[in-house]
Amino acid sequence: MLNHLPIGIFDSGVGGLTVYRALHERLPNERFVYLGDTARVPYGTKSLATIERYAIENSRFLAARGVKLLVVACNTASALALPAIQKAIKIDVIGMIEPGARKAVETGAKRIGVIATEATIGSNAYAKAIKNFNQQTEVVETACPLFVPLAEESWADEPETASIAAKYLSKIKEANVGALVLGCTHYPILRDVIQETVGASVKLIDSGEAAAETVDNLLKNKNLANLTAAQISRQRSLCDDLDHFFVTDAAERFARVAERFLGSQPARLEAVELWGNDELRTN
Ligand code: DGL
Repeated sequence: MLNHLPIGIFDSGVGGLTVYRALHERLPNERFVYLGDTARVPYGTKSLATIERYAIENSRFLAARGVKLLVVACNTASALALPAIQKAIKIDVIGMIEPGARKAVETGAKRIGVIATEATIGSNAYAKAIKNFNQQTEVVETACPLFVPLAEESWADEPETASIAAKYLSKIKEANVGALVLGCTHYPILRDVIQETVGASVKLIDSGEAAAETVDNLLKNKNLANLTAAQISRQRSLCDDLDHFFVTDAAERFARVAERFLGSQPARLEAVELWGNDELRTN
């Protein structure tokens, strides 16, 4: 029985905390083990080979800790490395791309916008996934790399962010999209300024929330949900001691940004080194 085991989540750094929050809200009976690869962030500007190598090391680390399934919170790793991860570990793996694409197509929009990192946009993963659900849908994509540091600085309400958003999103606005996928972990933090820029009629799709729905369905279909009475009876809060956080560098900064993103610091936070560990080696 795997039900009592936690769910593994990894991201290139702090951004995946938005996905952790979505999972935590939807699945209060589950425990989570989160790995933020803060030593090697960002992934969004790196090559396929490097992203695959990092993603496999992260996945093996979490699989070795005994998780019942793995959520790849990083959109970039989901877009480029999902097949490599699936080959490397023996548990179910859920990425961000398919859930986000499905939710966007479900809005019925004929034209869908996607914003993400350079690597995610370059991979065409969202466009392919959207077209798999509906061949007729038109997809308009734009990379918004500066949104990542702006979110980490909590500059959601600064005028500079609004002007950068206006510049990045002009193509999306002109295209008159009906839905816009927030295809990067950090973008939900800037949700309000993005909505204001593209207009209230555009439906924003949070790929983390979409993935949480997919995880919920998978747990039910595979009878993997945690049913332990002790767990259910306890009132959960974000970052409490039932969840375990690991980072590969700068734990203090991670804790600070976690407080900004989630309102509390992780009760259990540890620094780990993944490389040089033979068990996690990719070849
Ligand atoms: N986590 C990454 C993503 O969702 C954004 C940050 C990075 O470039 O590593 O694509």
